[in-house]
Amino acid sequence: MNSPSLADLQHLARRAGQILRAAYEQEHQIGYKGVIDLVTEVDHQSEALILTEIQRLFPGHRILAEESGGVAGADGHIWYVDPLDGTVNYAHGVPFFSVSIAYSYQGLTRLGVVYDPMRDELFAAERGQGAWLNGRPLCASSATELGKSLLVTGFPYNAWVTPDDNIENFARFSKRSQGVRRLGSAALDLCYIAAGRLDGYWELTLNPWDVAAGGLIAEQAGAIVTNLQGAPDYLSPPNSILAAAPGIHAAMLEVLHLQPAALNPET
Ligand code: IPD
Ligand code: CA
Ligand code: CA
Repeated sequence: MNSPSLADLQHLARRAGQILRAAYEQEHQIGYKGVIDLVTEVDHQSEALILTEIQRLFPGHRILAEESGGVAGADGHIWYVDPLDGTVNYAHGVPFFSVSIAYSYQGLTRLGVVYDPMRDELFAAERGQGAWLNGRPLCASSATELGKSLLVTGFPYNAWVTPDDNIENFARFSKRSQGVRRLGSAALDLCYIAAGRLDGYWELTLNPWDVAAGGLIAEQAGAIVTNLQGAPDYLSPPNSILAAAPGIHAAMLEVLHLQPAALNPET
């Protein structure tokens, strides 16, 4: 069966990104998948283009895609497609969102691309070869102290109703770091870790299409990427992720697992 090259993914992500950019200032048809979980007509247009092209060029491959569910196919070749990561930003006219495409062969993510069409930033990685931003090599930050680190996180769409709302973790890290950002695109959050712009990122309850490409890009740039238990598999349920500069990954894990008594020793 035919396998893609990194250039194939880059080309696809750029084409989908053009759809997002072209429609950015238009009024959107907003659909609700949940109380705060939005979808626009542009999510669907971007996904349709990506799926059509993957099926045309790589027939028989399996595709997991956010809006349609995807396409059945050989388990050995799996694509993870998020046609618009950052839909809430997009729907509000906040220019921070991306297209995320990853290709996995025999259970390992091999290629990953995340494209930010508003800044024309194309992040890409190939397993064992490195990670690049518009062709320039990426390197995660050399931070070694949490107190001098800038972090980023996100919150799940069921945050109104679940105890796993990530709010307490946000408070823990806000008191131990330079700050915690909430930018709104998990795929770009991971690329900013890869670029050393941010030092650490964690989030709970994601989907594989949110993090497959960005996770590979962060890893290939030298970041440590695990789930919140510190284990390597962040693509299986419950799909939590911790991506950080090697110098602060252990400290972040420790903060996530501090017992409440250790947080308020006087109580
Ligand atoms: C969401 C974004 C957001 C993250 C959410 C994701 P979507 O993806 O990546 O940053 O916090 O958990 O679901 O819905 O915009 O594709
Ligand atoms: Ca997403
Ligand atoms: Ca999406």
